[in-house]
Amino acid sequence: MKIYEAKDYQDLSRKAANIISAQVILKPNAVLGLATGSTPIGTYKQLVELYEKGDLDFSSVTTVNLDEYQGLSSGHDQSYRYFMEDNLFKHVNIPGERSFLPDGLAADGAAECRRYNTVIETTGGVDLQLLGIGGNGHIGFNEPDEDFKKETHLVTLTKETRLANARFFSSLEEVPTHAFTMGIGTIMAARKILLLANGEGKAQALYDSFFGPITPRVPASILQLHSDVIIIADKPALQLIHQHKGAL
Ligand code: PGA
Repeated sequence: MKIYEAKDYQDLSRKAANIISAQVILKPNAVLGLATGSTPIGTYKQLVELYEKGDLDFSSVTTVNLDEYQGLSSGHDQSYRYFMEDNLFKHVNIPGERSFLPDGLAADGAAECRRYNTVIETTGGVDLQLLGIGGNGHIGFNEPDEDFKKETHLVTLTKETRLANARFFSSLEEVPTHAFTMGIGTIMAARKILLLANGEGKAQALYDSFFGPITPRVPASILQLHSDVIIIADKPALQLIHQHKGAL
């Protein structure tokens, strides 16, 4: 595991975009695992800039996203498909037919999970998985649980997560109660993992995930067993790690 401290959000975003860009340059047909949330927005902006400058070509890239709310259509402005279109897809040349997310409106949830697992398998596996982290240590929508779920599954969102995401909806009641998420096994199968965290709200989760016991109660803690994890975080997010572990 490598931890890079970013000076600020802009620096974090630039560092993350540079790593993703290097991946695409080294392997033009890379499979990128993508994430939503506030954290990666700046990274996507930087990637769009690199693309506009002619420094990056996504024409052979495939993308698979971590998760999607159940019950929201792709046109709903809080669906993750909409988020990805808005922040990245519509600005760059990732082929539409090779950008995958679970279908939030799938009538049969179990069948949709199976379909999404097959989609990921068919890509040949994720080369670089971008991750944010929840204040409770979740990755994707793998919430604290009794065990680690391997593959794509439907989750009941915790109250904490729904409250955290309520800022994007007009009321808490509108936040979906369920979501499809890639499983921990699939995330762990990614060849490289890039986890971003900013702000003191992530400090405890970051410390527990990388310096605490490996437990499904802190889903990101499983990443301690992955051989190629890069963490980019700002000082507030790293404060507990600094406090307990000294300078990195
Ligand atoms: P955030 O969410 O980037 O909006 O903080 C991260 C996450 O919940 O995984």
